[in-house]
Amino acid sequence: GPDDPSQNAQAPALRDSPFLRACRREPVPHTPVWFMRQAGRSLPEYLRLREGVPMLESCTRPDMIVEITLQPVRRYAVDAAIFFSDIMVPLKAIGVDLDIKPGVGPVIADPIRDEAGLGAVRPLEPDDVSYVTEAVRGLAGELGATPLIGFAGGPFTLASYLVEGGPSKNHDRTKAMMYGAPRLWDALMGRLADLTIAFLKVQVAAGASAVQVFDSWVGAVSPQDYRESVLPHTSRIFAEVAGLGVPRIHFGVGTGELLGLMGEAGADVVGVDWRVPLDEAVRRVEPGKALQGNLDPSILFAPWETVERRARDVLARGRTAEGHVFNLGHGVLPSTDPDVLARLADLVHEASTE
Ligand code: CP3
Repeated sequence: GPDDPSQNAQAPALRDSPFLRACRREPVPHTPVWFMRQAGRSLPEYLRLREGVPMLESCTRPDMIVEITLQPVRRYAVDAAIFFSDIMVPLKAIGVDLDIKPGVGPVIADPIRDEAGLGAVRPLEPDDVSYVTEAVRGLAGELGATPLIGFAGGPFTLASYLVEGGPSKNHDRTKAMMYGAPRLWDALMGRLADLTIAFLKVQVAAGASAVQVFDSWVGAVSPQDYRESVLPHTSRIFAEVAGLGVPRIHFGVGTGELLGLMGEAGADVVGVDWRVPLDEAVRRVEPGKALQGNLDPSILFAPWETVERRARDVLARGRTAEGHVFNLGHGVLPSTDPDVLARLADLVHEASTE
């Protein structure tokens, strides 16, 4: 039934899709491709639909979620859809007073700085996000053999927004808590890991066929601090989600020195930003993992010849991995020309079958 999260419930065409095969490190007919932040951002049809609707409200309307998730799948030959939502949605759903301000990002009314603040991060119940369940069910039906990637924020990235109160360059208050109040830090990270686990489970139960944890800002910590203060929590997330039987992807920005540890945390696929060539990432990540990445999103503003040369280079280096999912090294930048993304998706398919 629709609530059975096991792989057995998947239609063969979906189970054998190039994206899910690459995540499992099985042979593929072509290298699968999707783009982080493909939903929203630069598409004119997205901007029209969102007119007058605040970001977080759009994430609670199943009809909008379904439509925005499908828009890039219609335009581009992508091998997967990413659920339209935000890493802040589960926090909002449990009652944390926050907003996503256009051009700024997430802003928290009462940042968490002490023991008393912890109470704001209560457990997430599926009923808190019934609109997510409804939208994922609708999408799983519409997408057919195209996998839907569910996602959640990683605990460091969520903690950073909650502790800083908004976007941050140096994450200094966050690190001050990590270094200066390690028990408070662990308690907060534990609650955020629970939130991420619960949010991922809701999406998989409703029909998502892979999950990605976006710990976007975790590249701010050293390997030693990652191992001591972050890894125990991300490991628990991936262990809890393992039982659902869907591929698990782990991504962060500026994580070159953390790639080995991110692999150790237990995901099936390690996301790599554009700073580390994929053949070098293969050396840094333990065997038994697929890689995802990693064209610099800024290259899409260069002449097509440059885009093509660099995309072919990513594919060539990706062939040294046990499995490769082509992606950008971070999200699509807002002013990206959708036609370039369309051409890039086609190129990845053509070049990987040559
Ligand atoms: O990938 C997708 O297309 C699916 C949807 C998605 C959104 N946010 C929609 C969104 C995903 C996967 C995210 C993840 C997310 N949200 C991350 C991790 C990924 C990354 O890029 O590192 C982070 C750090 C956030 C927090 C957040 N939400 C930021 C920093 C911003 C940008 C603020 C701005 O306007 O510059 C948002 C808002 C947001 N989330 C938008 C979209 C489409 C843009 C707001 C809008 O269109 O009104």
